[in-house]
Amino acid sequence: MFQNLTRRTFIKRTFGSLLTVLGMGAGGYYYANRIEPSLLEIKQLEIIHERIPSSFNGVKIVQFSDTHLGFQYTLDKFTGLVDTINDLQPDIIVFTGDLMDEPNKYLETNLLAPILKKLHAPLGKYCIYGNHDHGGYGSEIYREIMNTAGFTILLNSAVSVTLADNSFISLLGIDDRMLGRPDITTAIKNVPNNCFKILLSHAPDMADTASSYPIDWQLSGHSHGGQVKLPFIGALVIPPFAKIYQEGHYIVRGGHELNLYVNRGIGTTRLPFRFMAKPELTVFTLKS
Ligand SMILES: [Fe+2]
Repeated sequence: MFQNLTRRTFIKRTFGSLLTVLGMGAGGYYYANRIEPSLLEIKQLEIIHERIPSSFNGVKIVQFSDTHLGFQYTLDKFTGLVDTINDLQPDIIVFTGDLMDEPNKYLETNLLAPILKKLHAPLGKYCIYGNHDHGGYGSEIYREIMNTAGFTILLNSAVSVTLADNSFISLLGIDDRMLGRPDITTAIKNVPNNCFKILLSHAPDMADTASSYPIDWQLSGHSHGGQVKLPFIGALVIPPFAKIYQEGHYIVRGGHELNLYVNRGIGTTRLPFRFMAKPELTVFTLKS
């Protein structure tokens, strides 16, 4: 506890002096600590692809990621986020990892499933593991919460999302790259060749591997969009496997053309600040 406080105090002071040097001072500190972490941006994107069946026209996927509950992000805010997501009327909800910052130290795990259960998506709720979901022996805690809340965990596996006319798209999910065992070959094994495929991978840099498979889109988180970006210096926090792709849309060309989207996430980790990297919800609308 003492060590932790000392470390946080140190980080805050270091960051504080950095802002002072840049002439931003107390106002900048207050903004990055209190204001920007609460400025949710809702981004709207269209996914247009010839392999999307026409009956999927207008199907809405909402992605949220990296809530890191217990570090700076509170249950109150999380409850509000669930309402915001439901207001967007998603058909499919995907969570791309890092629910709690430290699952084994989080004291309110029993309150999470009832909140997540309120998320409503007629075509299903799907999730994958992030590094923090495995960290601190969290794997079982996370699995229990997500299953109870009605999420299907995609762990090197795939599901077909099927409409009444039997047309379908495929959702694949892999384990985390840092602390798990991601395996795209296993995930894609039983997926029909010619269907539209979306891969969920916590780590965005897996796109370089994924683009050698016939996968159309990859949705990721993990980077927090840099979380704290300073002019002329860039991002202060960039975790491994989010070094190449940090935020937004990319086209990655391996053996196949892969569209990658990197969501900036909701919460914070390591530093209780966001600067030039607002929290984000992404709404994807499918178009045939
Ligand atoms: Fe992560």
